[in-house]
Amino acid sequence: MNSAPGSQTIEATLIAGDGIGPEIMDATVDILAALGAPFRWDRQLGGLAAIEATNDPLPKDTLDSIRRTRLALKGPLTTPIGGGFRSVNVRLREEFHLYANVRPARTILPGQRYEDIDIVLIRENIEGLYVAFEHYIPVGDDPHAVAISSGVNTRGGAERIIRYAFEYALKNGRKKVTVVHKANVLKALTGLFLEAGRAVAKDYEGRIAMDDRIVDACAMQLVLNPWQYDVIVTTNLFGDILSDLLAGLVGGLGLAPGANIGESAAIFEAVHGSAPDIAGKGVANPVSILLASGLMLEHVGRLDLAQKLRGAIDATINKANVRTGDMGGSAGTREFAQAIIGQLSA
Ligand code: NAI
Repeated sequence: MNSAPGSQTIEATLIAGDGIGPEIMDATVDILAALGAPFRWDRQLGGLAAIEATNDPLPKDTLDSIRRTRLALKGPLTTPIGGGFRSVNVRLREEFHLYANVRPARTILPGQRYEDIDIVLIRENIEGLYVAFEHYIPVGDDPHAVAISSGVNTRGGAERIIRYAFEYALKNGRKKVTVVHKANVLKALTGLFLEAGRAVAKDYEGRIAMDDRIVDACAMQLVLNPWQYDVIVTTNLFGDILSDLLAGLVGGLGLAPGANIGESAAIFEAVHGSAPDIAGKGVANPVSILLASGLMLEHVGRLDLAQKLRGAIDATINKANVRTGDMGGSAGTREFAQAIIGQLSA
């Protein structure tokens, strides 16, 4: 273990995932070792590999490992369509009450549609319309004539995520939190969220500014003038959509990391999928999972290593001009990883 001087070894669960997961995770483990990251990995199965071994995409051993380490780095998992398996990502959120989904969008690759983007979206991860209280009402011979879905937001859940966003802003030197809602139409479901936002904001007056936006106006402004946003906090469904919009501003899902934070565990992940079209070809871009491991370093208090890692990724892409195919280059995953390791000692 190549630990930084004075740092403690921290056990963390590692789920390589499906498709390109093992390729990008191998690259990440090598880079983190060269960086001197303090993690000792407990490798566990998830997704298709776990179904083959145990007939469960989220086996008990994997859950037990996360219960013990309370910390995990997770590659993309293929969700089989049909077959009765629930999404592993949703199961993990529920199991560990991962109420905060943190999705930073920072420009790392210049020449995209927008330059100098630096926005963090914090999404409520458990409540809202994603509780999926859904049913059909049959009419005549159509069993699906009417579809009904109920969302659930609680004051406790809303205040918790909004407080998380303000604390995040304080810790990370941010200036403003924007509460995004649809309180003009969904007056109860998202009106409660706005009400909680206004209440929590009072505790941060003079330190962090607060404003609010209706989700449709926010989507338009993110396209017209994204620089007006700093930290955004919003409900589950709006957060799901806007966080991918934000990833699009900085070059797509291949460059965007995600963190799922709860009281009993924190799980860091690439936000793209398992990319079956390029799996096994050695061409996948590991930046998303690498940036996720940077968020994990921040989470365990190693901001120094997180910054060094981001600096090396930036230098590899923008100074050494080593890029994978999706970034317009020709490097394979291994070559790209070696270039980052080279930058770490440059
Ligand atoms: P995808 O993100 O896997 O792929 C979309 C496109 O982006 C493909 O052309 C792919 O080659 C490319 N791409 C994605 N990541 C890349 C990377 N790191 N480097 C280079 N190119 C990359 O989305 P898709 O095809 O819709 O989903 C495939 C599978 O992944 C599905 O089973 C889906 O359920 C799962 N998935 C899992 C997620 C997770 O575990 N967090 C998130 C999204 C999808």
